Amino acid sequence: MSQQPVQIQPLSQPVQMPDEIATFSAEVEAEIDGHLAKYPVMRSAILPLMFIVQRERGYLDPPGVSYLAKRLKLRITDIWEVATFYSMIHIKPIGKYHIQVCKTLSCKLLGADKITQHCAEKLGIKVGETTPDGRFSLSEVECLGSCGTAPMFQINFDYHENLTNEKVDEILDAYLKR
Ligand code: FES
Repeated sequence: MSQQPVQIQPLSQPVQMPDEIATFSAEVEAEIDGHLAKYPVMRSAILPLMFIVQRERGYLDPPGVSYLAKRLKLRITDIWEVATFYSMIHIKPIGKYHIQVCKTLSCKLLGADKITQHCAEKLGIKVGETTPDGRFSLSEVECLGSCGTAPMFQINFDYHENLTNEKVDEILDAYLKR
């Protein structure tokens, strides 16, 4: 299957990026090649590749962004505009456990604000912050598609639903013991 680079236009202003470009092991490069082979247009592989870079580097750091731009033959800004749209892509370091409290309608009506506040008080951080030991980050995100079991949050890839403060305590205490 042929891979056509997307036609790009010059930027109106230069974007400053570090000279460093992320490098990966042969296994990771092979994984990336495998994703690129699935798409007729390289750009379509941007999200799977972002997840790989994030997994390998902890977050989508500037060298990782440069790598993606080079590999996908895109502009740096093409990478950033996707990276900054999705809450699951992190452009700054994130805790080992990322708590994402849904703040959309069903969850909001059923107490999401109280759940967020309870998490914040228990962990001693505000929304958007990470605990000093780097273990927990707290975010508010849009609907996670589990509206029927609101309020809910996601920790990494696990959903926790029908939350109450007591249930949050149980869940977070289990993570704190890990
Ligand atoms: S509104 Fe919270 S999961 Fe949909």
